[in-house]
Amino acid sequence: MNKFLAALCALFIIVSGILWVKVNTLEVVIAEMNQPDLYEAMTMMQTIVHKLNYAIESENSDLIDFYVHELEEITEDIVDADLYYHGEPVGELTDSMLEPVIDELEDALDSSDWNRVRDRNQAIIQACNNCHVATGYDSIIITGQSESNPFNQDFSTPGRQ
Ligand code: HEC
Repeated sequence: MNKFLAALCALFIIVSGILWVKVNTLEVVIAEMNQPDLYEAMTMMQTIVHKLNYAIESENSDLIDFYVHELEEITEDIVDADLYYHGEPVGELTDSMLEPVIDELEDALDSSDWNRVRDRNQAIIQACNNCHVATGYDSIIITGQSESNPFNQDFSTPGRQ
């Protein structure tokens, strides 16, 4: 009977060991899945910044506010994940270089001073490019917008000419 118990204990220890390894592997996979994909986040920011420019050109406060919040959400995801990319502290850099200028655009929008809004928008684009230089991607140069709206979207404020 004692032998039987000892064998049962041994089996139990082996099974818990296997389970522990499996749970650990799963935890690593989930952590990786929760990390934002940097390229995806960047191309998403590029689209938002692009549309933001048309909304600013049209002085459409509600739409600008919408894009600023979307931009904030993506940058917060990058900062919260404390993302590293090829050894570059992308999370920390986003926190120190990009987030402050997004906040400044938000303040400018609250003041309804359109020159300040346009100026802070340029500062955001500058921050994007400064970080590309800082991380060794100086070949990625972001600009405001092209001459004519390439989106199948009207950026003007509804009901305002
Ligand atoms: C923390 C530094 C940092 C900031 C801030 C940053 N980027 Fe990037 N960006 C990178 C890095 C690093 C890559 C390369 C990522 C990769 O290889 O997937 C990149 C890649 C890109 C790409 C991909 C290039 C391509 O041609 O598709 C785009 C687009 C881009 N960024 C746009 C932006 C925009 C727009 C902003 C500002 C709103 C911005 N980035 C802010 C570091 C940054």
